Amino acid sequence: MRMEEWKMIDDMQSQIAEFDISNADQLEQFRIRFLGSKNTIKPLFQHVRDVAPELRKKFGQQLNALKQSAEQKFEDAKSALGSEPSNKTRPSIDLSLPPYPHPKGAQHPIQIVMNRIVDVFQRIGFTVAEEREIEDDWHNFTAMNTPENHPARDMQDTFYLKDDMNYVLRTHTSSVQARIMTQSQPPIRIIAPGRVYRNETISARSHCQFHQIEGLYIDEGVSFADMKQTLLYYARAMYGEDVKIRLRPSYFPFTEPSAEMDVYWGLENEIDYRITKGTGWLEVLGCGMVDPAVLDNCGIDSKKYTGFAFGMGIERQAMFTYRIPDIRMLFENDIRFLSQFVNA
Ligand code: DAH
Repeated sequence: MRMEEWKMIDDMQSQIAEFDISNADQLEQFRIRFLGSKNTIKPLFQHVRDVAPELRKKFGQQLNALKQSAEQKFEDAKSALGSEPSNKTRPSIDLSLPPYPHPKGAQHPIQIVMNRIVDVFQRIGFTVAEEREIEDDWHNFTAMNTPENHPARDMQDTFYLKDDMNYVLRTHTSSVQARIMTQSQPPIRIIAPGRVYRNETISARSHCQFHQIEGLYIDEGVSFADMKQTLLYYARAMYGEDVKIRLRPSYFPFTEPSAEMDVYWGLENEIDYRITKGTGWLEVLGCGMVDPAVLDNCGIDSKKYTGFAFGMGIERQAMFTYRIPDIRMLFENDIRFLSQFVNA
């Protein structure tokens, strides 16, 4: 028996065993050397005929075992490296997979409606004025021509500060009118969004906190017709070009004459009937010509200037817009409710 042949197998076996495969490059080198079409094991098979006939079978078996051990080492290393030999050019994560959904926050429906209203008025030159929520009696009531004995001042409606009865949580954004008029002279053209408070029992229709938007326009020669056109423009922008509006005479201490504006909602089904109390009309805001007494209270010459004002509740508008049946839903911060406004 020629020892050489057997030694070749042993040598090859140690080469396979010693070959270090710790990256994709080495894995590929290994494959080419021991398993490729010009691999180094193949030529050994030609030596079968050099082996004594009675040992050929055993020699062949050893060669096959050698080949298998190379294949096995390749497979093991490949799965240990976790990828195909072309690892280098492929990122370890699959970029074609869809990403995990990233939850998007939603704006609160009140904020959505408020922004929309503010936007409509900003387009025609109104600027936003924001003021304090804890207001003194004078700005909230007296300056706004609300006499001492007016029911709005009643303890039932107003939250007074415990330590100082001269301060209230503002009951309406009309207090911002007084703030602005005492600080500046006409022309004044502001819109004032914000939170207001009333000492009311909480129910499906009313809450002790809600939001309003106030508008005020003062200049020389401002007329009721200007107010009507401005409000018509607003209604068209909010409710569509063919909206119908109507102004009903009303009373507010700070305006004279005063009115309430309704928009036509429709009377087609039971919900319309309920929302509009059977009239088909929806009351959206209070308005009027600023009472000269208010101008004088705030240091604006009522002989020279006239103006109009309006105020509206946001919750009502949000409830109509999104068909929200209960005002309390707007204050509960229930994520199941709020997440419905993600794309609103
Ligand atoms: N402040 C009134 C309220 O809270 C709403 C209002 C009515 C505001 C008429 C105005 C206005 O500016 O002119 O009910």
